[in-house]
Amino acid sequence: MSASATIEAVREYYGSALKSSADLKTTACCAAEAPPPHLASILERIHPEVTERFYGCGCPLPPALAEAFGHPASNVDFVEGYIEDLAAAGVADESVDVVVSNCVLNLSPDKPRVFAEIWRALRPGGELYFADVFARAFKLALEDRCEDYGQVAWYLGTLPEHPHAFELDGHHRFETGRPLLVCGNTAEMLTATRYAPHFRVDGDRSVHHGLFDCSPGTLAAAGRDGATTGCC
Ligand SMILES: C[S@@+](CC[C@H](N)C(=O)[O-])C[C@H]1O[C@@H](n2cnc3c(N)ncnc32)[C@H](O)[C@@H]1O
Repeated sequence: MSASATIEAVREYYGSALKSSADLKTTACCAAEAPPPHLASILERIHPEVTERFYGCGCPLPPALAEAFGHPASNVDFVEGYIEDLAAAGVADESVDVVVSNCVLNLSPDKPRVFAEIWRALRPGGELYFADVFARAFKLALEDRCEDYGQVAWYLGTLPEHPHAFELDGHHRFETGRPLLVCGNTAEMLTATRYAPHFRVDGDRSVHHGLFDCSPGTLAAAGRDGATTGCC
């Protein structure tokens, strides 16, 4: 997908398709745990109009921020713009103590530019405090979506610390010897990295079956040919 198409798709999804958190089309964006009590008491003060539109993937509320917020108030400014160009939104060099982001960085098609902008905007000693969805950080040319090529992976049980099962990440648990249907990206992570000697992966990308269904129901269900499914 081109950068402009990504921006347009993101704008349509968050700007038009979603009216409240109930409209989210994925469970990827969720906070796994309830916020700690000292934050819960702060969150109670936020208007339901805001909390009903929570699309974040964590609770990145940094400590040691003392002042109460308010609107209108002298300590709150809203500016609209792209995170790739905070300067255009009026954010000056070295003017910010803490950049807080909840599930926004992953949506940018130009992450190096975003991080350069955050670096520029932060004061010396400033802090980036964020929660996000991210693919494991392999140096691989991964596809921007999970695609189904019918590839199946087996963990061989050969990592010494993991004789019975291996967890590649939070939703890829490979039991030794049990086949798992995987998307093209996961297959790449298992065949083109240091994990390769520990996995057998059948199939290549010669046949494309469409998008890999990442919905939680599918992940739990039995896949084709007796393989269970897992996506990245
Ligand atoms: C997953 S939502 C998170 C929203 C909010 N932080 C929360 O926790 O509910 C992502 C938000 O980032 C905005 N966004 C995505 N890409 C952006 C970009 N390049 N520049 C500025 N905002 C962007 C979207 O419009 C959307 O409002």
